[in-house]
Amino acid sequence: MSDKNDRGNGPNSSAMVAISLQELLEKSQLNVDLFLRLSPTKHILVIKAGRDPDHSALRRYLSRGVHSLYVRSSDYNAMIARSLVEASTSAPTGSVETFTEISRDIWSEIQSLGIKDETAPKASSSTDWLSGLGMRQAQFRETLDNLRQLQGGLTRHAAATSLIAVMLAIEMGWEEKEILDKLSLAGFLHDIGLTKVPRDIASKAQKKMSRDELIIYESHAEVGRDLVDRMKFVHPDVARIVWEHHEHVNGTGFPRKLKEGALHTLTNIVSVASEFTNLILNDDNGREVLPARGAYAEIDSQIGQKFAEKPVLALRSLLILNPQDLKKAANA
Ligand SMILES: [Fe+2]
Ligand SMILES: [Fe+2]
Repeated sequence: MSDKNDRGNGPNSSAMVAISLQELLEKSQLNVDLFLRLSPTKHILVIKAGRDPDHSALRRYLSRGVHSLYVRSSDYNAMIARSLVEASTSAPTGSVETFTEISRDIWSEIQSLGIKDETAPKASSSTDWLSGLGMRQAQFRETLDNLRQLQGGLTRHAAATSLIAVMLAIEMGWEEKEILDKLSLAGFLHDIGLTKVPRDIASKAQKKMSRDELIIYESHAEVGRDLVDRMKFVHPDVARIVWEHHEHVNGTGFPRKLKEGALHTLTNIVSVASEFTNLILNDDNGREVLPARGAYAEIDSQIGQKFAEKPVLALRSLLILNPQDLKKAANA
């Protein structure tokens, strides 16, 4: 970062990284300058480096509805590096390694679909951030363990939904790190409630479920919200998205039959990402998968019913599909 960025209104906004206050509250040492964002281009220094973290000041900001403070990106990188060193000497890393391996596989699978070249590199910082979170947060490592032990396919679905959700947002022109990180986490955690649903029900096709099984299955949205609510480092929007990820824009989804206007904008993205990965990836039951085009055509046919239009069009743009491709898929 240049000296120029440190003068006047604080550092240049593009050189700033948001960190949630919940995450900051968990740190015993900070040693970085913390800034409050006044506007996209203006930040002011509110807590100086070199002091123990002032938890009462951080809580005060939280109670005023501020969810994140900002650090210089150079400080952020140093913080991550410090956390990784600490984690590698003190934390069990098995689940994180598995997650990193699964993420790597998912990356190559998604890239092999033929996605837009320029989108992948932009999405990579959010997936790196998610891996780093596994190293830094014990609660997130527990989540990875639960997913891994219960269903390997669920971890793949979670990692792919996370990645696709971030890519869709980038296609929609949303590149702010705070939004992408939120989406990355919401995409990853959206089905976490399934870890509390008996495995024989969770892995059954919905069409084949009895009424009682369906009630238990549908509880995963609310259960997931409660699990995410308990994660201190997670922004409240993430719990809301997890709660809403099975709502349909026409009000026929579950659990609350909310319509498009009542849904968090990021929910619409996660819903499309989850459905797309359901259709293209093998699950634990060996369900038949569709090629990317066919999966897109199926989702496209449900615009205005299940899905909001913008994230579906973003998926089309990410997959570089044109109307002729879609006609072919529909006739296949
Ligand atoms: Fe779900
Ligand atoms: Fe899902």
